[in-house]
Amino acid sequence: MRAWRLTRTGAPEVLQLTHVPSPVPAAGEVIVEVDAIGVNYAEVLSRKGLYGWAPKRPYVPGMEAVGTIVEVGAGISPARIGEVVLCGMQFGAYAERIALPSRRALRSIQGFSLDENAAFGVNFMTAWVALMEMARLRPGDRVGITAAAGGVGTAAVQIAAAHGCHVVGMAGSDEKLGTVASLGAASTASYGSPGFETRLAEAAPDGRLDVVLEVVGGEVFDVCLSRLDHFGRLVVVGYAGLDYSLWNPLSWWRAWRGAPRLDIKHAAEASIGVLATHIGYLLPDEERMMSIWSALTTFTARHGLRPVVGRVFAFEELPEAHRFMESRESVGKLVVRVG
Ligand SMILES: NC(=O)c1ccc[n+]([C@@H]2O[C@H](COP(=O)([O-])OP(=O)(O)OC[C@H]3O[C@@H](n4cnc5c(N)ncnc54)[C@H](OP(=O)(O)O)[C@@H]3O)[C@@H](O)[C@H]2O)c1
Repeated sequence: MRAWRLTRTGAPEVLQLTHVPSPVPAAGEVIVEVDAIGVNYAEVLSRKGLYGWAPKRPYVPGMEAVGTIVEVGAGISPARIGEVVLCGMQFGAYAERIALPSRRALRSIQGFSLDENAAFGVNFMTAWVALMEMARLRPGDRVGITAAAGGVGTAAVQIAAAHGCHVVGMAGSDEKLGTVASLGAASTASYGSPGFETRLAEAAPDGRLDVVLEVVGGEVFDVCLSRLDHFGRLVVVGYAGLDYSLWNPLSWWRAWRGAPRLDIKHAAEASIGVLATHIGYLLPDEERMMSIWSALTTFTARHGLRPVVGRVFAFEELPEAHRFMESRESVGKLVVRVG
């Protein structure tokens, strides 16, 4: 079978399409024939060697896919063969077939297309954990979301709007704001040009926010933090705007300066908090993750939410999907179809 391997870090071209032996199921595992892969920004960081949760190279990247169970290992009921499942993993999804523990192959979401299923897991789970578990979102909260047109962002906008919040969607360019509004954001602001501070102050009701889901870092983090009202909660989920990949003192200094920080004395005076989460490190807490998954899928079905699939690539074009995500032109989730 074919799989994209990462043997060294660098530009998208370092991903190599190679022939590797088909996986054989170990006890407790299933083999999934992949239909579609969801591409994540974390995999771009991984490819550049900038992702802490990545395994040692060489490896096959990829954290999520949808496909059909075609084989099962010892201890797993053969009745699972033929089931269409969502696969969540640390790495290994950029392949035509994957092996994973049976419990990590979750029944696909009824009523979603294969592409939508591939686009759902990581983005919606991340947005849900950040907003509901960390920020403890309440109806009526004024909620700022950065990179709101992206994978996590489009999920977060929909969840917060469906929860009865006033969503302020933010993005790196004006062109993306229409998508953000169409998903339920009540107001929007772009941080792609000078004047972001003023635009956000105008977009937020009374100029204040109760909750922020932040993924960019640098000035975007600072401005969002300054807009928090008393008891405000800012959840850091990423810092896509910080470039640690350039090896010169000036770029390191910029990245260091832009890293999200909180002055506790200021936090006490303003009664605000900064939180951070990474769903990868939560995966071993299976009981809690399954209860969160159940709450998320119930909420999604009740409110008729759907992942936004921005663009679909062929398996052979996977490096192009990475390039497109890095270009900041992508909207919603990028999906790669296999076969
Ligand atoms: N903590 C977790 O568990 C977890 C899980 C999933 C994702 N994440 C993080 O959440 C963020 C969004 O991930 P995603 O997979 O949904 O990606 P995405 O939002 O679809 O794409 C990345 C977006 O980041 C923004 N961005 C800002 N500065 C950038 C830069 N210098 N280069 C490239 N993009 C930049 C761009 O949106 P604008 O142009 O609108 O700014 C871009 O479209 C990432 O930071 C990712 O690492 C964290």
